[in-house]
Amino acid sequence: MRPVDDIGLAAMRISEGNLSAHINVSDTDSELGRLATVLNSTFARLEASFAQQMQFTADASHELRTPLAVIISEAQTTLARKRGGAEYRESIAVCLTAAQQMRRIAESLLQLARFDAGQEPVRRSALDLAENARVCVDRIGPLSKERDISIRCDLRRAETCGDTDRLDQLITNLLTNAIHYNRPNGNIHVSTRSENGDVVLKVTDSGQGIAAEAVGHVFERFYRVNKSRSRIEGRSGLGLAICKAIVDSHGGSINVSSEFGTGTTFIVRFPALKAS
Ligand SMILES: Nc1ncnc2c1ncn2[C@@H]1O[C@H](COP(=O)(O)OP(=O)(O)O)[C@@H](O)[C@H]1O
Ligand SMILES: [Mg+2]
Repeated sequence: MRPVDDIGLAAMRISEGNLSAHINVSDTDSELGRLATVLNSTFARLEASFAQQMQFTADASHELRTPLAVIISEAQTTLARKRGGAEYRESIAVCLTAAQQMRRIAESLLQLARFDAGQEPVRRSALDLAENARVCVDRIGPLSKERDISIRCDLRRAETCGDTDRLDQLITNLLTNAIHYNRPNGNIHVSTRSENGDVVLKVTDSGQGIAAEAVGHVFERFYRVNKSRSRIEGRSGLGLAICKAIVDSHGGSINVSSEFGTGTTFIVRFPALKAS
C-alpha cells in the first residue's frame, strides 16, 4: 500500500500556496507508477497555469497603475496653486488621455476574461472573409494615409462561418499593427483566399520586423518588444492576445513569420464553410 500512501500524502501537500509537491515515482512500470507519473504531470501543468495567472494579475495592476499615477500627479501639480484657464484645460487633457488609456486596458482585460471563462458571445453566421477584410481596409484608410502607408489588397472569396464583429476586430488589430510598426512610406499587403478546405487571411507589412527571440512571445498578454516606447504611445500589448482568443474561439489558427529589417506576415486560418 506504500505507493497509495505516497500519492495521498503528495495530494495533501498540494495547496494553493504549494503546487510544487510531487509524488516520488520509483517504479514507472507498475500501474500505480504510471498513475503517479500522470498525476505529477497534471500537478506541473496546474503549477504553470497558476504562475501564469499570478503574473497576469501583477502585469495588469502595473499597467493600470501607470496611467493612474499620471492622473494623480497631474491633478496634484495643477491644484498646488491657482492657474489660468488654459493651464487647467491642458491639465484636464492630460488626465483625459490617461483615463482613456485605462479604459482601453480595462475593456481589453474584460474581453480576455470573458474569453477565458467561455462567456464571450460568438455569434456565428456564414460570411465571406474577403468582405470583412474590404470593410476593415476601407475603415483604416484615413490612418494609413496619415502615416503614408499604402495598402494593397488581393481579396478572393473566402467563405467561412464566424462572428462578423469579432472577425472585424481581429483584422483591424492586425492592420493597426501593420501600420504602426511599419516604416515611413511603407506598404501593407492584405489577402484572403480558400485553400485546401481552409480560408486564409494574410497581412504582410514592410516594417522593421520582429527579432527572432521576440517572435514567439507576441501573442502573450502585455508582451511588447519595445516596452517603454509602446507604453508612452499608449499601447498595452493586449491586441494580439485578443486576436489569438478570437481565432481560438473560431477553431482557427494564427501564426506569424517575420524577417528582422524586412517585414512581418500574420497568417490566420479558419475552417471553410462546409456545404450542407
Ligand atoms: N506587424 C508588426 N511588426 C512588428 N512588430 C509587431 C507587429 N505586430 C506586433 N508587433 C510586436 O508585438 C507586440 C504586441 O503586439 P500587440 O499585442 O498588438 O500590442 P501593442 O500593439 O499594443 O503593443 C508589439 O508591441 C510589437 O512589438
Ligand atoms: Mg497592437
